[in-house]
Amino acid sequence: MRILIVGGSRGIGKAIAAELVKSGHSVLVTGRNKETLERTGQELGAGVQTFAMDVTKEADAKALAAYVEKDFPVDGVVLSAAQFPKPETKTSVTAPEAEELSSILDANVTANYRLIRLLLPQLKARKDPRVVIIGSTSGIRQDKGGVYGISKWALASYAYNLRDELKGLGIGVSLINPGGTFTETRVKHGEEDRSLLESSDFGILVDALFRMSPQAVLERVDMRPLAGDTY
Ligand SMILES: NC(=O)c1ccc[n+]([C@@H]2O[C@H](COP(=O)([O-])OP(=O)(O)OC[C@H]3O[C@@H](n4cnc5c(N)ncnc54)[C@H](OP(=O)(O)O)[C@@H]3O)[C@@H](O)[C@H]2O)c1
Repeated sequence: MRILIVGGSRGIGKAIAAELVKSGHSVLVTGRNKETLERTGQELGAGVQTFAMDVTKEADAKALAAYVEKDFPVDGVVLSAAQFPKPETKTSVTAPEAEELSSILDANVTANYRLIRLLLPQLKARKDPRVVIIGSTSGIRQDKGGVYGISKWALASYAYNLRDELKGLGIGVSLINPGGTFTETRVKHGEEDRSLLESSDFGILVDALFRMSPQAVLERVDMRPLAGDTY
């Protein structure tokens, strides 16, 4: 299969790309930073293409949709890119400025909504296509989610509605909600908590999802560290 991974140059998206490549799929990974993308492309080897773009920019989303239509007709789309909250106010819904909420909603919800609209005509033409949306357990918790949690609740609502609307077209939509997951970004922020999930846990899950019969869909999976969510 050909699978597009938006936000596949690092973290969970990259781990998903790695597992899918191991299983023989062709993968197109996107991200904003060209050097990181190139490095990821080289690391993952043959079977990987890269496309630099910012998913929040309409022109970039249109360019990606055009590239996909011409050179990489997709059977699956994994939406993993996200904007994270400022660490110092991440659990608050009163401290962050309203502009931070708008910006995080734009990146985590509107950008995905726009891209799927652009890709939909192509997905409809494919056989048994799938859309995988990476949410967060912040989108199911009712406390301490901050503005990021608001965006992930909205994204979850989008995923449930998309699942319902596209089922008649034979397009499977899955929402995967990770709890705390160990990534390079967390290391950069000084976090070294090894009780967190491994990014590869999501690679294993998404690879399994693409092996299932076309009539099966994982509607929603919540995966947390054994110790629970940590804030
Ligand atoms: N890690 C966790 O603990 C955790 C927990 C729950 C949910 N999640 C969710 O899992 C997903 C992946 O998170 P992660 O921890 O793997 O993040 P990450 O390590 O920061 O990786 C994010 C990826 O998305 C790309 N990206 C970010 N903004 C983008 C944009 N505007 N346009 C295009 N690409 C963009 C990044 O590349 P560039 O920066 O170069 O663009 C990178 O490839 C997110 O949806 C996140 O909300 C993560």
